[in-house]
Amino acid sequence: MDYLPLFFDIRDKPCLVVGAGEIAARKLELLCRAGANVRIVAPAICDSVQALIRQHSLEVTEREFAESDIADAVLVIAATNDPAVNQHVFERCDAAGLLINTVDNPQISNVIFPGIIDRSPVLVAISTAGNSPTLARVVRGWIEARLPPGLGRLAEFISTRRDEIKSRLSTISERRQFWERIITGQAGERAMRGDASAAGRAFEAELSAHLSSAGTAAGCVLLVGAGPGDPELLTLKGLRAVQGADVILYDNLVNAQILEYARRDAEKIYVGKKRKFPGTRQEEINALLIAHAKAGRNVVRLKGGDPFIFGRGGEEIEVLTAAGIDCSVIPGITAATGAASYAGIPLTHRDAAQSVRFVTGHRASDRTNLEWPELAKPGQTLVIYMGLPGLEDILAKLIEHGLPAATPAALVEKATLPEQRTVIGDLSDLAGKVRAANIVGPTTIIIGEVINYRLR
Ligand SMILES: C[S@@+](CC[C@H](N)C(=O)[O-])C[C@H]1O[C@@H](n2cnc3c(N)ncnc32)[C@H](O)[C@@H]1O
Repeated sequence: MDYLPLFFDIRDKPCLVVGAGEIAARKLELLCRAGANVRIVAPAICDSVQALIRQHSLEVTEREFAESDIADAVLVIAATNDPAVNQHVFERCDAAGLLINTVDNPQISNVIFPGIIDRSPVLVAISTAGNSPTLARVVRGWIEARLPPGLGRLAEFISTRRDEIKSRLSTISERRQFWERIITGQAGERAMRGDASAAGRAFEAELSAHLSSAGTAAGCVLLVGAGPGDPELLTLKGLRAVQGADVILYDNLVNAQILEYARRDAEKIYVGKKRKFPGTRQEEINALLIAHAKAGRNVVRLKGGDPFIFGRGGEEIEVLTAAGIDCSVIPGITAATGAASYAGIPLTHRDAAQSVRFVTGHRASDRTNLEWPELAKPGQTLVIYMGLPGLEDILAKLIEHGLPAATPAALVEKATLPEQRTVIGDLSDLAGKVRAANIVGPTTIIIGEVINYRLR
């Protein structure tokens, strides 16, 4: 390890910044955020430093650096564009045993600034020991994307209850287990969302269950949309839910790679239904969700696409709410938008479609089920889910109800996956082309003039 990472409480402590150009401005901003008592020494001051001086009432000495400037400083930043001055500042500070950072020059620094992710009071610092600021920036991006924006709120929520838990739970390991449940459970989720009263209620429920013989409070169920296939289309919130789950009940169309994000010890239960195979009945799925949540587990119900679009999400929350289980929904990218984007087809277009309808083709042959005259109206886009078995019927009925046979139509198979195939035709010939291509599904059908505007 080339450097010792430390977090420095610099509030109200004297810091000296030598130089007042753009590079000094970046460090000044940081020092001000940390509450340092900053003094600037520089013969000339750039506009952005002037703005910071006004904003934070900083002390300024407008002249060249003098050795006496470092007298009371605990940290010095050399940020001039003159290497000789920076070298001189470094030598004086180093000899005096002071902390000195020369901007972008670790060779003449005894401390360096890390890349930071600020979710105060949670702070993550990244260093490459000065080897590559670009690498530090990229790593910061990777970590940043994984950290919930509300992490700071969660840390504050915990700090308001630490003393209480310390006095009521006697051992360190008991407290650690309790806090883990709070952080990864409903209380943590609510605190990060900024709903302090709901977080408080979940916290109290967990604490009283912990203190009673029950051990743990009831868990919760999160209905999570896994997106249409490409695992990178899972939302960041969905990813965190999967990572924090004790149990995951997943469907047939969920990409197995998403399950890899789960904890090693998480229980993964397949409850998918395939077209010709009945799979787990909805009643059994509901019963499993309720049983696992009542046993105090954080349950994720992982569904292909979006839980609220032809995904029975509505039925599941109805049953869970009736059973008194806390549940919420994390949306996913639905097959319609995934298929359209990956096939380069806009779903609306000012010159071609002012609205878009998502329709199930599941019971296309049932005349009473779909509003064919409405579906056959021009100026809109139709997206048909589960339409492959009834494709011929669907296309014929649209023509029968007045949509021109030459209306463009597309079918996207295995949308967003590397095996995706797109068949383009019109109402009169799409079914034949699909047969010839030996398509097996899953498929999404898009009908409308928007197909003429596709990315080719
Ligand atoms: C039961 S529905 C679930 C829809 C899902 N909740 C959603 O929002 O995408 C299943 C249908 O979605 C469509 N679908 C799901 N994933 C797909 C994919 N990768 N490519 C094409 N269509 C897909 C197919 O029409 C499939 O029969």
